[in-house]
Amino acid sequence: MTYRKKMAAGNWKMNGHWAELSEVSTLLERHPNPACDVLLCPPATLLSRMSDMTVDGAVMTGGQDCHTDENGAHTGDIAASMLADAGADYVILGHSERRADHTEEDDDVRTKAKVALNAGLKVIICCGETLAEREAANTLDIIGGQLAGSIPDNVTGENMVVAYEPVWAIGTGKIPTLDQIGEVHDFIRAQLERRFGEGVGRSTRILYGGSVKAGNATEIFAVSNVDGALVGGASLKAGDFSPIIDALEASK
Ligand code: 13P
Repeated sequence: MTYRKKMAAGNWKMNGHWAELSEVSTLLERHPNPACDVLLCPPATLLSRMSDMTVDGAVMTGGQDCHTDENGAHTGDIAASMLADAGADYVILGHSERRADHTEEDDDVRTKAKVALNAGLKVIICCGETLAEREAANTLDIIGGQLAGSIPDNVTGENMVVAYEPVWAIGTGKIPTLDQIGEVHDFIRAQLERRFGEGVGRSTRILYGGSVKAGNATEIFAVSNVDGALVGGASLKAGDFSPIIDALEASK
């Protein structure tokens, strides 16, 4: 079986000031040498400082978005190369909040991914259905379309991670059944193998995101083709994120 290093990724979204960097210190103390990849994606204002704190490699850092252009007249936006310059290893792209708040389409996400990969970043490509889409039994069609449209051709198991985040599970405390998570993750794996071949398809990590907490992490991490989690709210405090890392390290 292809080895895939597990990943616990935290998305701080629009949360956190300098004071909250103490959570990172606590996390580094608790996990000086994690058996899985640990990634934190803070707001851009904290990226450089957080990257300096984590320079020893125990925790990696990432941005939450980048622009489709490499540079230029885009007031308020951030270029992929700037994230890399600030110390980021990864960038999250196509999060449902960006798709909803900034009307990002699949081809925007694909262009961003190309620019990010060119800048030397690794990308986390997000996909996920709304509740209406799930209730209409369209989940796999939606996910398939998002993957086909959002992922550029030049990805590998090294430079891309896929995150499945059902929109209705984000920040709601609701999660799909374990069978539903497994169905989508198996489907994503099959789609990746079909498009990119077995090598890339089997080595690409697929994270689950949406209301992951210490209390449900172990059962989610036991689901087939779940290689870790993309965690929002429970990544803000070391005391909440640390047991999720523990659960991932202890998983199959
Ligand atoms: P929550 O863990 O807060 O549900 O957020 C998930 C998410 O959107 C991570 O990107």
